[in-house]
Amino acid sequence: MTREKLLAANWKLNLPAEGIGAYCSAMRGRPNAGFDLVLAPPAPFLELLVRESKEAGEGFAVGAQNSSQHDSGAFTGEVSARMIAGLGARYAIVGHSERRTIFGENDEAVGLKLAKASDAGLVPIFCVGESQETRDAGNTLDWLHRQVTTAMAVAARSFPRLVVAYEPIWAIGTGRNAKNPEIREAHQAIAGLVAPLVPADCRLSILYGGSVKADNAAEIASLEEVDGFLVGGASLVSSSFLAIWGAMRG
Ligand code: PGA
Repeated sequence: MTREKLLAANWKLNLPAEGIGAYCSAMRGRPNAGFDLVLAPPAPFLELLVRESKEAGEGFAVGAQNSSQHDSGAFTGEVSARMIAGLGARYAIVGHSERRTIFGENDEAVGLKLAKASDAGLVPIFCVGESQETRDAGNTLDWLHRQVTTAMAVAARSFPRLVVAYEPIWAIGTGRNAKNPEIREAHQAIAGLVAPLVPADCRLSILYGGSVKADNAAEIASLEEVDGFLVGGASLVSSSFLAIWGAMRG
């Protein structure tokens, strides 16, 4: 297993206030930092973002925020991993806590989505993380164990490249990021869980997500267990997203 840095923006059901064109222009001309920067827009904007990324000389990659566990058929409202890959996107967020808690995705569904993303050649950004209640009860590591091992057993795929995002639910969109000892413990546990489930030459990234901002990114990125970030709110303005990128570059 080798570890690889990565920085991803999850715009959720939002677009950057400055507009997509201006945002993508701001992404151009960055020096190559040797790691991928991924933008995940709402699905109707994937194609536009792929076009923009080509104009940016592949200066960033494009990811979907969700992809179906089905390939085709009577599944109203779904978008398949193959369709997403066909547009030129390279990543897909799978199992985000908002998909799990608001849209009822369970570990089995997340596992099927991991499988379909992998079959389509997409790199999954596989999200896991505990609620406040689970943390308070001291069950965080058991929770992560179940989320990682159940979904990966259902997926039953060999992942040559895998991104896992540790996103404690209580830290998402709250302005209250997890502290370094909590992040280190979770990331070490995730690395230990994933290691026997992926090939020896798997390229793995373990990201932290949850209220990452320009002013806390450097401190969190100083942990050797952290390969990068999945950023929601602070990714909606190019300057704050680029400041996080700068903190990761060191
Ligand atoms: P946040 O969201 O950065 O706004 O906390 C992170 C996420 O949900 O991926």
